[in-house]
Amino acid sequence: MPAVLSASVPSQTFEIRRFDAPVGAEVIGLDISRPIGEADFARIHRAHLDHHVLVFRDQRVSPADHVAFSRRFGPLEIHVLHQFQLKGHPEILIVSNIRGEGGEPIGLGDAGVYWHSDISYKPEPSLGSLLHAQELPSEGGDTLFADQHLAWEALSPQMQARLLPLKAEHSYLAKYEELRAKNPWRPKLSPAQIDQVQPAVQPVVRTHPETGRKALFVSEHFTTRIVGLPPDESDALLAELFAHSVKPEFVYRHRWQPHDLVFWDNRSLMHLAAGTPDHLRRKLYRTTVKGDRPR
Ligand code: SIN
Repeated sequence: MPAVLSASVPSQTFEIRRFDAPVGAEVIGLDISRPIGEADFARIHRAHLDHHVLVFRDQRVSPADHVAFSRRFGPLEIHVLHQFQLKGHPEILIVSNIRGEGGEPIGLGDAGVYWHSDISYKPEPSLGSLLHAQELPSEGGDTLFADQHLAWEALSPQMQARLLPLKAEHSYLAKYEELRAKNPWRPKLSPAQIDQVQPAVQPVVRTHPETGRKALFVSEHFTTRIVGLPPDESDALLAELFAHSVKPEFVYRHRWQPHDLVFWDNRSLMHLAAGTPDHLRRKLYRTTVKGDRPR
C-alpha cells in the first residue's frame, strides 16, 4: 500500500481521462513536484489500479521530483546495469539511444525491445515503473502496453485450467548475449552483476495483490521455460501464450508528448519499446518501484 500523507495538504485540481483504448488514462493538471495530499494520492492510486497505465502530462520536473513521486508507491529498485544510472540519482535508469562525445552510450539504448514485465526475473518483481520523457524523436519511439488481465480472461476455460498450476522460469540473461551481439555497446556483465540476476520461478498466472484480478505472467524477453514440461511442449505452449498475450485488442500504443511521465503497473501489463529510427535521439528516465512475490 502507498504511504499515507498528511490530510492537511491542499488538493490540486486535476482530471483523469480514460483513453479510447483497452487500457490507460491521462492525468491532466496535476503537478507531481508539488505536495500531493492523501485524497489526491488515493485518487491517483485508484486510477492506477483501474487503468493500469497513467500518463501524467506536462511534468516539467527534476530527477529528484521524479524519484520522490515514485517513492510514494514503494521502495525503488536499483537496476543491475549501474553503468546507465543517472549521475547523483542511482534510482534512475537512463533509457536512450544517444552517444556521448567519445561514442559511448549514455543509456540503455535497446531497453524493452521484447515484450516484458519489469524485473520479472527477480523473486520479487516490480510493482510499477515510471518513465519520464527528456528528449523525444520527431517520429517513432512509441511504447506499447498489453493488458494481461484481458489476455487471461480471453483464454478458454480449458486453457485457464491447464495454466493455473504451472510455474515458469524467468531469466535476465535469457536474451542478454543475443542483444549484446546486435548492440556491442551493451556492457559485459561482471560476476557480481550475474549474481544479482539469478533466474526466478514465477506462477504462469498471477493474482494482482491489490485488485485480486488474475493476469498472465510470461514474457518473450525473460521467460525461458515452463517448469516440469518437456522442452518441446514448453516451447510450444510459451510460443502460443506470447502470441496470445499481445493481441491488438489488449494493447494501448503510447505516442509520447514532451514532458510525459508514464506510470504503468507491471503486475497487470507487459510493455514494449516499438523502436526509434537510428538517426533520431531519444532519452527518458526510468524509476522502478519494488513489488511483492507473485502469487
Ligand atoms: C522499458 O522497457 O523500460 C523502456 C520502454 C521504452 O523505452 O519505451
